[in-house]
Amino acid sequence: MAEKERVETSEAQIAVHWQEEGYYYPSTKFVAQANMTDETIYERFSLDNFPNCYKEYADLLEWYEYWHTILDTSDAPCWKWFVGGKINASHNCIDRHLKNHKNKTAIHFVPELEEEKTEHITYQELYVRVNEFAAILRDFAGLKKGDRVTLHMPMCAELPITMLACARLGIIHSEVFGGFSGRACADRIVDSQSNVLITMDAYYRNGKLLDHKQNADIALKLAKEDGQIVDKVLVWQRYPGKNSSPAPMVENRDYFVNDLLKDYYGARVAPVPIAAEDPLFLMYTSGTTGKPKGCQHSTAGYLAYATGTSKYILDIHPEDVYWCMADIGWITGHSYIVYGPLSLGASTIIFEGVPTYPDAGRAWRIAQDLDVNIFHTAPTTIRALRKIGPDEPAKYNYHFKHMTTVGEPIEPEVWKWYHKEVGKGEAIIVDTWWQTETGGFLCSTMPAITPMKPGSAGPAVPGIHPVIYDEEGEILAAGSGKAGNICIQNPWPGAFQTIWGDRDRFVSTYYERYNKDPNSKDWRDWPYLTGDAAVQAEDGYYRILGRIDDVINVSGHRLGTKEIESAALVVEEVAEAAVVPVAHDIKGKEPDLYIALKPGVEPSEALSKKISDAICEEIGKIAKPRFVLLVKDMPKTRSGKIMRRVLSSISNNKDVGDVTTLANPEIVTEIQEMMKKK
Ligand code: WTA
Repeated sequence: MAEKERVETSEAQIAVHWQEEGYYYPSTKFVAQANMTDETIYERFSLDNFPNCYKEYADLLEWYEYWHTILDTSDAPCWKWFVGGKINASHNCIDRHLKNHKNKTAIHFVPELEEEKTEHITYQELYVRVNEFAAILRDFAGLKKGDRVTLHMPMCAELPITMLACARLGIIHSEVFGGFSGRACADRIVDSQSNVLITMDAYYRNGKLLDHKQNADIALKLAKEDGQIVDKVLVWQRYPGKNSSPAPMVENRDYFVNDLLKDYYGARVAPVPIAAEDPLFLMYTSGTTGKPKGCQHSTAGYLAYATGTSKYILDIHPEDVYWCMADIGWITGHSYIVYGPLSLGASTIIFEGVPTYPDAGRAWRIAQDLDVNIFHTAPTTIRALRKIGPDEPAKYNYHFKHMTTVGEPIEPEVWKWYHKEVGKGEAIIVDTWWQTETGGFLCSTMPAITPMKPGSAGPAVPGIHPVIYDEEGEILAAGSGKAGNICIQNPWPGAFQTIWGDRDRFVSTYYERYNKDPNSKDWRDWPYLTGDAAVQAEDGYYRILGRIDDVINVSGHRLGTKEIESAALVVEEVAEAAVVPVAHDIKGKEPDLYIALKPGVEPSEALSKKISDAICEEIGKIAKPRFVLLVKDMPKTRSGKIMRRVLSSISNNKDVGDVTTLANPEIVTEIQEMMKKK
């Protein structure tokens, strides 16, 4: 990243710097049953044994043709893993389990309404449904290997069915989080050049049946304006055979999947052998500019990494009932609801709703009823459940052996509540640090081997070798306790391959900063910049502080400040917009939005609301700012640059420091006064 582009206010700068805590150890009961208890795994996955160590993960999968080259670096830094191999992700997640486990539940779908029954989908049933839908994709929608298809689906069993049907044919799926707006969906349709959109008519959230099909209509209209025509919309129904959306169906464009399925009853589609490095899916994520990046994930490397980390870090066994409460619309759901657990032949839970509806005991009732023994969620949810239902877990008879936290740093106090109350003092916890780009975990304790330390993600997972750089590009001594930019020295199979259609941006965003030689084909010259700040304690454990770039982590979801700012600029009265992260006790961070209006425009409550609404419409409700402050002017340097650092200090109730060198220091006091009244 060029100096001028770097943010003056990063999440890491307003991070909570908590103390190092003591260790917690796994119980002997846990260790006795764990998938990995052999401490030499760290040795086996040391840099000396890199990259061959990853054969161990590749061998967790079934191959049509075994690979010949484990890591090809000829197109650095676009690494190719398991070259020469042919594989199919759908086969690995379904077909290979049929021989011994066809009657086992693959997916428990739990509807939000408690009066509706949980749907238990066996591996055989999953096989049938994926095959029939794959036939529709191929024979009705005309899709083939390498085509992209956009999915805008909520949490439902049909989402993994759709993904696995795509994977069966080598169609690249690009799932857009269901809560995202039609506009956000359109941008992703355009960027991935999808001709087909797969959606659902409606879904429940917080007890309300939301019309979702309407977003497809908005998305298609906007995509068309940007030159991308979608000719088919496949609409799953929340209640099969019944339309739950008032949005009209457009003739010769929109089709109910349940109608089409009648013609494909009993269809079987053989899994297509896919080259190891062919893409499996795209997952868009926020970055430093307004345009989201389509992270392109490979088939074999990704699946091997998701499977290996699910087995050894999440400790998933085929007989486990595993519940990850993330949304499949994020990378966590892809790797650790769908691909990892199903590849291991476990039972995975898909919960439609929010864990606080109808009350804070809902999650624990689900855990009790389905006998969940592995649980996976994010600090924002843990904080919310701790706040509104601190005594709820104790009321239910469930027992977790293992729990995960992911998505943002977890405060030691919250960690301890999670451990004591949710885990009943029995469950081990892994704090897993990773990213959309990385496909799977980067740092975490090994549950039966390395002890837990509240507030620390832990050491790097086997095969990942981080380094922390300072701003000058020097590597900080291991265990220095100093904050810096955490990078990964080596490639790993789960890493994304590139940004869809934008290799230059891929290289400049993730590799340019610490690259030693742009022409080098040696992976040692290409440290991967994660965009997070971190400290490493003496014991080798990493504590993640937050983003160093223009990304805000709201409730564990990545939002680009530039994305929010450009959404605000859609409102015609707005001249300038600046977003800063504010600490929030449940969400972790939330955005505050400062707006300077065009000359002659009067500030008003109505206008603030209009801007806030515009952001929800452009991006989705998750991006809704805490405050929209209509300021007379932005605090600026003499060269005209908005001083986000000053705005961030105001938002976070911190000392603004010396502002005398600003072009307009008087505005600072004025904004501080405005904030006091909020
Ligand atoms: C943050 C989510 C601290 C981090 C899997 C990262 C975390 C960003 C943790 C990626 C954790 C994720 N502790 N911070 N355990 N896990 N993060 O792409 O800032 O949605 O860069 O992937 O979330 O968010 P993303």
